[in-house]
Formats: sequence, structure tokens, C-alpha cells
Amino acid sequence: MSTSLNPNQADPNAHNGESNDMPSMGLRPGRRVFIETYGCQMNLADSELMGGILGTRGYTAAPNHDEADVILINTCAVRERAEERVFGRLSHLLQYKHARPEVILGVTGCMAERLREDITERAPYVDLVVGPDAYRRLPELIEESQEVEADPVVDVKLDRDETYAGLSPRRQAGISGWVTVQRGCDKFCTFCIVPFVRGRERGVAPSEILRQCRDLAERGYKEVTLLGQTVNSYRHEDTDFADLLEMLVDVDGLERIRFTSPYPTDFTPKLIETMAAHKKICNYLHLPLQSGSDRMLEQMKRLYTSGEFMELVERIRENIPDIAMSTDIIVGFPGESDEDYAQTVEMLEKIRFDFAYLFKYSERDGTFAARKLEDDIDEEVKHQRLAALIERQEEISSEIFAAQVGKTKEVMVVGESKRDANDLCGRTDDFKMTVFPRPEGISPAPGELVDVRVDDATSHTLLGQMVTE
Ligand code: 5AD
Repeated sequence: MSTSLNPNQADPNAHNGESNDMPSMGLRPGRRVFIETYGCQMNLADSELMGGILGTRGYTAAPNHDEADVILINTCAVRERAEERVFGRLSHLLQYKHARPEVILGVTGCMAERLREDITERAPYVDLVVGPDAYRRLPELIEESQEVEADPVVDVKLDRDETYAGLSPRRQAGISGWVTVQRGCDKFCTFCIVPFVRGRERGVAPSEILRQCRDLAERGYKEVTLLGQTVNSYRHEDTDFADLLEMLVDVDGLERIRFTSPYPTDFTPKLIETMAAHKKICNYLHLPLQSGSDRMLEQMKRLYTSGEFMELVERIRENIPDIAMSTDIIVGFPGESDEDYAQTVEMLEKIRFDFAYLFKYSERDGTFAARKLEDDIDEEVKHQRLAALIERQEEISSEIFAAQVGKTKEVMVVGESKRDANDLCGRTDDFKMTVFPRPEGISPAPGELVDVRVDDATSHTLLGQMVTE
């Protein structure tokens, strides 16, 4: 449903509950595990965390499902579609249990937390159901599930204190990594399931975050994305989010720091100053708006008005010229009138985000909206509003990307372009995917910063030539 690449994301579709098949284990011989990940970047980071936990117990990465003793599917609950995909996927994965009944099939993450009864009913062959705060116990739970025959082993206890301190995620070699700095969420937007499936907000200790960032740098990573549901409301004792960034810019070897997703009302002047002061902190912000209508924002319990959001955008742009921005929007929230929707279109036109992730409202059991507000917008109307918004945003994105033509941008090389082995691709500081022909005689390595002169653009990609002299 998104109109473009997801911000800061290795897999452009991950935001939408698409899967990332990621063998992310260690190298010790032993049992083999395959983790399939759905949902947001935090889930990708959690899969790496599970990999780390299992790695210390001798598990290695299975190259595919066929060779796995344990298959884990790390799930997303944010929209219904993501959940339906997981059920579809589980029935597909049943074949591996048919072929080898000893295979352990586990469901982890947000859906595990939310749907444990449904899972045991709709997918009774699942052996293991593990929520986002129970990953430390994963090795024991797997053992247990081998011992019990009938019901799945379930651990979905939420834990106010669990920040997974002291653990090291298992990462494949790379240039761009994630570090979770905050778990859970205290905002309780009325549409959102996250506080229910991930529990209360907790900041990870700065020393722990520093350790992980240094570890990334030592392993050759050049970029880190700090993750949190409302990442800028981060606090740990006296350290706030701006302090944290200030601390991390000193990590040698890390060239770029990104974070996602900030919450508008927690965007302090101090944070803006910190971003403006450091080149390492990228000129890109994913700032979820959700709606342009004050009435809808209030119903969503978003804590700001459209005017306040606009002022924030202006303040950020004044202090950080050329900053790129993206956003999330929900259309078809209960009670959304044509006028409310028109105000959202107007806001997108006024703000001109570089890109946007646009969603149809999806009712989530247990949320305030599900309990108190009728999901009264016709599916067809939701669909039309979404389609029209995507179309409008595409035009805006095309214009913004076209306006980059003629500029020279610093690009961090990611690697070979997927479409053409003669091309390289990378990202600009302001998060634009950039494709350029591999220059004659030189081969910039992934992670290297090169200058690219932009000579063409689509609505999502810059095309150019590397400047070699
Ligand atoms: N329906 C539709 N979209 C949702 N999001 C979160 N909950 C819902 C829901 N119930 C969207 C929001 C959020 C993004 C991650 O997903 O736009 O910012």
C-alpha cells in the first residue's frame, strides 16, 4: 500500500508486512534455524536479536527452510493484511513438517502476542508461540516444545523491564545496521495495536546502545538506524534522544546516523539543533502525520493539530535546509468525511513530502477505535481515497525527484543494482535511492561515499554518473 520505498529500510516492503527471509545465525555447528521476518524494521532487528540468542546456544543459520530444524516466523500485527499473509504463510510452511515431523515451527513477534488463541485454532500444527518480550527464553521454549506433544508452548508475557541488555544480535556482514533504542509505546494512538503487543515504553541504556554502535562500526558497518516506536521520546535516566545522538556521532567508523520513527510532539528544539549541528546525522526524517484533519487527529489521539504539525515542519526546514521528509497517512479512519479527506490531500500538497506511506484504516481488536468507533467508511470509499492520494503523492514525488537533476549528491554505495549488473546503487544522505553506471576501472566498495551527478529521475530513484575526478 505504500507509494514508495520505506524509510531507512533494507527491504522496501517490510513496512507493509512483507517478508524478509533472513538467515541470521552464527557459525557454530549444531541445530539449524531459519527465521522469516514480516513487518517493520524493529522486527528485522528482533530477528537478529533472536539469531544472537540462539547463536550462543549453538544454533546456526539454515540456508533455507528445507535444511532447518527450527523455522520461526517473526510477525507483524499492525494491519489485518499482514496477519492474513502470515496465516497463508503458515499453511504453506506446514509442508516442511509433513516432510520432517520433527521440525519445530514457531510464531514470534506481535501477532504471537495478539493472536495466540487464533493461531492455535487456525494453525494447530504450530509448536511455539513467543511474544516480543520473551526472546531471552527462546532456547528453553524450543527445548520444551520438543518435549510436549500436543499444545504449542506459549510465552507471550510482556515485561516492563526487558530491553535485551547485554545481548548481541547476529548480523550478516553489511554496511547498514539497526539498533533498537526504545521498546514498546506509551502513546496509545486509538488505531494502533503496538502498545498492546509490545507493551510499555522503555529506553535502552545509553551504554548498551553505544556498545552496539561500536560493535557495528568495528564490523565494518558505516550506517546505523536507531529504532523506536516513538524514537525521539527516548529517555533513559538523564539522557534524552538528542543527548543520545550527540554521544553516537563520536563513534569512529560510523559515517551516517538515521532514526525512525519520531513522534511530532516530542520533537524538541534541542533535537533540531543537534541534527543541524552534525553532518553525520542524516538530512532525512520520517515524520508520521496520519491525517490532515484536526477532527481526525483528535479522534486518533495524535496530540497535535495540523497547524502544529505544519509549524514543526517549517521549524525543521528553517534549521535544516534541504532536509527530505516522508510520512505515514491513514485514510478511511472511522468518521472520515470527504472534507476531512480533502484536508489530508491539502496537507500533502502544502508540505510536499519526498514520499509517503499511505494506508487504509484497518480495525485492530482491542484498540480504542475498535472498541468505541464504528469502522464506518465503505471499503470502496477507502480504496478510492487511497488510490487518489497515491496518485497525488506520486506526482509530488516525481516533481521533487526531478528537481534533483543537475545536483551532485554524496551517495553511500550499497552494491550492484538489482536490475543491471553494470550499474551500482546507493543512497543519498537524504535517503534517495540512486543508480549509476559502474565507472570504468574503479569499483567503489559497499559503504564507500562517492559523488554522483544526477542527470535523470523517476518518482523514487535518482539516476546519474559518478564524479571521478
Ligand atoms: N490501520 C491502518 N494503518 C495503521 N497504521 C498503524 N495502525 C494502523 C491501522 N490500524 C499505520 C500508521 C503507522 C504505520 C506504521 O502504520 O500510519 O504510522
